[in-house]
Amino acid sequence: MSKRMRKVVFPVAGLGTRFLPATKVVAKEMLPVLDRPLIQYAVDEAVDAGADTLVFVTNRYKHAIADYFDKAYELESKLAQSGKNDLLAMVQGTLPKHVRCVFVTQPEALGLGHAVLCAKPVVGDEPFGVVLPDDLIWNGRGAGALRQMSDLSVRENGAGVIAVEEVAREQTDKYGIVDASPLSERAAKINLVVEKPKPDVAPSNLAIVGRYVLPGRIFELLETTKPGAGGEIQLTDAIEALLAERSVLAYRFEGTRFDCGNKLGLVKATLAMALEDPALVEPTKGFIRELCD
Ligand code: G1P
Repeated sequence: MSKRMRKVVFPVAGLGTRFLPATKVVAKEMLPVLDRPLIQYAVDEAVDAGADTLVFVTNRYKHAIADYFDKAYELESKLAQSGKNDLLAMVQGTLPKHVRCVFVTQPEALGLGHAVLCAKPVVGDEPFGVVLPDDLIWNGRGAGALRQMSDLSVRENGAGVIAVEEVAREQTDKYGIVDASPLSERAAKINLVVEKPKPDVAPSNLAIVGRYVLPGRIFELLETTKPGAGGEIQLTDAIEALLAERSVLAYRFEGTRFDCGNKLGLVKATLAMALEDPALVEPTKGFIRELCD
């Protein structure tokens, strides 16, 4: 039986320019979908997948994520004193007790592959997950996407597993694109991955979305990965190198992805979550009807 992933890396050093001016002071991962920041959804999914070590790859200016998961002594004692136990539980519940956070900095923004490589000293040579918090993947009460992927990786002797979703042809140059041979309803064996190909040369319209389960070996491959698309060190290029050594699977997860790296995605996620909230579902539907009339 191959080893289960226990560590998950969150590359969170990005500037979030699509949400300026808010992101002048608010880290994009702290933008809320209803009352929870994007990073909370990402962390919940990692914990659901069995992670006990969360590695945040951040930059020297971003302290909000560390603050958010830290103990808030003053707030907690005020809530306790005033008997606001529900709120206290909410504030204390951002992270289960058995989970630890490790923060590493990415000194320069050299690309996603470089960001992941910064986590090497913490992860070492074991399977690990990567979650890009911009991609909020929601599967209601069912298993989160990363848990589905980690289960598959264990069943397939530690194979790398990458989440994919079909996108419109004209969007291929925004994603890593895979060419894969189907193995089952949701899984396929990747033959080729290419970062942000133009629609006319893209091998398919099957795009990588922000979830990966990877072997520790990827770090060594990243160390020798040259800058690729956009002049950045791309995780996709290291995965392409990994394909020469072992099989990597593309996985169509169960759940809905909201691309919260752009405004429309954040609006959609907010509406979808409001429609799942018993207190908000009816007023939200009413408001949407009103807007559409
Ligand atoms: C990154 C990856 C890309 C992937 C995408 C998913 O790109 O490099 O392969 O498809 O995330 O969100 P970015 O969006 O950081 O440019």
